[in-house]
Amino acid sequence: MSVCSLDDYLALPDHSMDERIDQARMRLGKTTILLGHHYQRDEVIRFADFTGDSYKLSKAAAETDAKYIVFCGVHFMAESADVLSRDGQQVILPDLNAGCSMADMAEITQVEDCWDALERVGLASETIPLTYMNSSAAIKAFCGERGGLVCTSSNARGAFEWAFKRGKRILFLPDQHLGRNTGYAMGIPLEEMVVWDPWGLQGGLTRQSLTDSKVVLWKGHCAVHQRFLPSHVDQVRARYPGIQVIVHPECRFEVCQKADALGSTERLIALVDQAPVGTMFAVGTEIHLVNRMARRFAAEGKKIITLDDTGCLCTTMYRISPQHLAWALESLTEGRVVNRIEVRPEVKHWARVALDRMLEIKA
Ligand code: 13P
Ligand code: SF4
Repeated sequence: MSVCSLDDYLALPDHSMDERIDQARMRLGKTTILLGHHYQRDEVIRFADFTGDSYKLSKAAAETDAKYIVFCGVHFMAESADVLSRDGQQVILPDLNAGCSMADMAEITQVEDCWDALERVGLASETIPLTYMNSSAAIKAFCGERGGLVCTSSNARGAFEWAFKRGKRILFLPDQHLGRNTGYAMGIPLEEMVVWDPWGLQGGLTRQSLTDSKVVLWKGHCAVHQRFLPSHVDQVRARYPGIQVIVHPECRFEVCQKADALGSTERLIALVDQAPVGTMFAVGTEIHLVNRMARRFAAEGKKIITLDDTGCLCTTMYRISPQHLAWALESLTEGRVVNRIEVRPEVKHWARVALDRMLEIKA
């Protein structure tokens, strides 16, 4: 069958893609690996060869021999896979609109301005730039070139320790919540973590507050996780005595403080997996993952609910549809690479340095 335009696929129902995806996968065989982030919808993730959090998927991307890496996730993940890939490998993001609103909260030019300001006040040389995986390749390269690194939510603490062996202060990009939660868990008082507002003059901070700080947190956040509030924790505890509250560290500080445990998507799953039969959990993360966990663990007598009563969707993760996936795979069977993600060579080198430093830090 000859591949039609993407619009032709988008006009068809989800379930009509299943067989086509299976067929295309069979034809592509080992040339193609499909990576799926835990927030992907069920109709897509069921086809993944590997599922995982950002750390696990970047390791899988770095280790595979497949010629084509089809990334069912968001743009920064596909970029990282390209940076970690070998010559001859190509990374495909089935829908180029699958971005990350948090990653978009830090532009490389804003980060450069911030660094210039730190240089002007004489602090850059003692500051290590550390970026969360959820950032552009340009920002990863920026960190790599200045002696810094990348982290994910599963190895943020290790990355902080790495950085504090090399500098007095961390500039943490772009998620203020992960940075604050990690710093506080290591014993850094809140007053020593200041927030850099990229829209403010000198980040909205005085020279003294920058000098006194141990962590400069970028003013970024995830809209999905920011929705969870401390009152949600109180409500589920009142309603279900004994319930365990587990949340992603992108949630705000007050929520993380009240929770029983924090973890990356992979760790949230592991926490439930390891719990005794009969345990009940309220999970503070993206709703597709929460619903999937609820179904999987119901069979083991573990009840899972979302921390707020509506549950929030990551709309950009959701952009990867079965139609986009079928189109990308069927195009490959005809030798056409669509939606390739290619990081510019000059960015790739230093981004790789920063990502390699991250991969050395265990999750
Ligand atoms: P994980 O690394 O925990 O999968 O998180 C990625 C992410 O984007 C969470 O919002
Ligand atoms: Fe980005 Fe938040 Fe979606 Fe994660 S859940 S990909 S941080 S917008």
